[in-house]
Amino acid sequence: MTYVYLHWRFGMIPPGPRLPSLVQTAWFMRDAPGMMERLHRRYGPIFTARYAGYPPEVYVTTAELAAQIYQTDQTGGRAGEARRDFLEHMVGAHSVLTLDGDGWWRHRKLLNPPLRAKQVAGYRDEIAAIAAEKIATWPLGRPFTLRERMQDITLEIIIRLIFGIRDAGRVGRLRALLPELIETGGSMQLLALPERLRGMAARVPFLAYGRFVRLRDEVDTILFDEIRHRRATPGGTDVLGRLVETELGDQEIRDELVTMLIAGHETTATGLAWAFERLLRLPETMERLPDDEPYLDAVVKEVLRVRPVVYEAPRLLDAPLRLGEHEIPAGWYAGPYIPLVHRDPEAFPSPEEFRPERYMDGHQNRAWMPFGGGRRFCVGAQLALLEMRVIMREVLNRLELSAPDQAPEARRLKNVTLTPAKRTRVIARARTPARTP
Ligand code: HEM
Repeated sequence: MTYVYLHWRFGMIPPGPRLPSLVQTAWFMRDAPGMMERLHRRYGPIFTARYAGYPPEVYVTTAELAAQIYQTDQTGGRAGEARRDFLEHMVGAHSVLTLDGDGWWRHRKLLNPPLRAKQVAGYRDEIAAIAAEKIATWPLGRPFTLRERMQDITLEIIIRLIFGIRDAGRVGRLRALLPELIETGGSMQLLALPERLRGMAARVPFLAYGRFVRLRDEVDTILFDEIRHRRATPGGTDVLGRLVETELGDQEIRDELVTMLIAGHETTATGLAWAFERLLRLPETMERLPDDEPYLDAVVKEVLRVRPVVYEAPRLLDAPLRLGEHEIPAGWYAGPYIPLVHRDPEAFPSPEEFRPERYMDGHQNRAWMPFGGGRRFCVGAQLALLEMRVIMREVLNRLELSAPDQAPEARRLKNVTLTPAKRTRVIARARTPARTP
């Protein structure tokens, strides 16, 4: 306490609002983007926020400061521990999301190969087929929300290409169970429940936690059955098929399957929802799509810059971290606030403009960080980018989309993501004849 006081007294701790932590928590929950913009304007590129029940969190908004935080991954910045409270009840104790140190690296090493660009490129046709199958069921001529439709597609991709499940009965069960598992598992009612009370709550049938535990058990039974089945019939090209060939045990594989579901399903669907939300308001960009492949790739990148899905990539510091004139104490969180890093005019000139051309020369910009950075950089980034390109192309080849309301959709906090407030409302009309790639 004295240590923290001295830091604050001598101005080493980054500045921040003096409001009580409960008020800051309520502010963040109501309007996280607005709060971060206010604090950025008031305090500059590094500031501290305080949330009830958690260590203080320092946010940074430049690529240089972010790089210094990512650098702590080399020595023990605990990205895993920073996520554990929110995720362990779903992903278990053996997940790359929540592990740190040697345990994390042992898993990460095994997850990297099946998710590399070269490997996932083999999924292109199957992703396109899944998207085409789903798009054929969308309503025509009346408004509907695209985000759920995108979740439907990305969930199917996980069930068929990551889990590699072919049995129609199991696919059907998972399709029904997984969305509810994710919804109940991420609910604020559950996350607000202290760890020690969760065991008790699991036995009360009408509480969300009880429902969550029953769903999780049901999903686990299917996953463990599938893992046993795949060990008996090795050789699949899906991610599970590759994981059963590694040293990982059944429980570890189950945890990593659920990890890829939790980390990869809603995020990718939200990225796609934003892509269409933006494109519907940028007719000239839309015109050039989807045939120009390098341009499509650049559009996806620019969407993820102007509307990053995941807003932060925090590390729990295990040693004090010096950032310029500031020193952040051990035990605090520190991380980039990604939407503001992406709007730094030093890194992205005229940042408010949507300019896919920024990426056309193949130039890497280290301020572009929708997938985080350091050693904990998103393991699914290549799959997510491929999914976005392929699904956008399938939609644009078949449908003409318009927005029922031209006003841009606001950003709304949902679990760890920022989503379009109206879930991307669109009206679709069949393109006749459908364009062929
Ligand atoms: C547009 C879609 C996606 C976005 C925006 C996204 C974003 C992120 C971010 C910001 C992180 C944290 C990185 C850090 O702390 O530095 C992360 C980590 C992670 N993501 Fe993604 N992700 C997406 C899709 C996926 C997909 C499709 C998968 C899996 C198939 C996936 C699996 C993971 C995992 C396992 C981690 C933890 C990595 C580690 O700690 O070693 N993500 N992602």
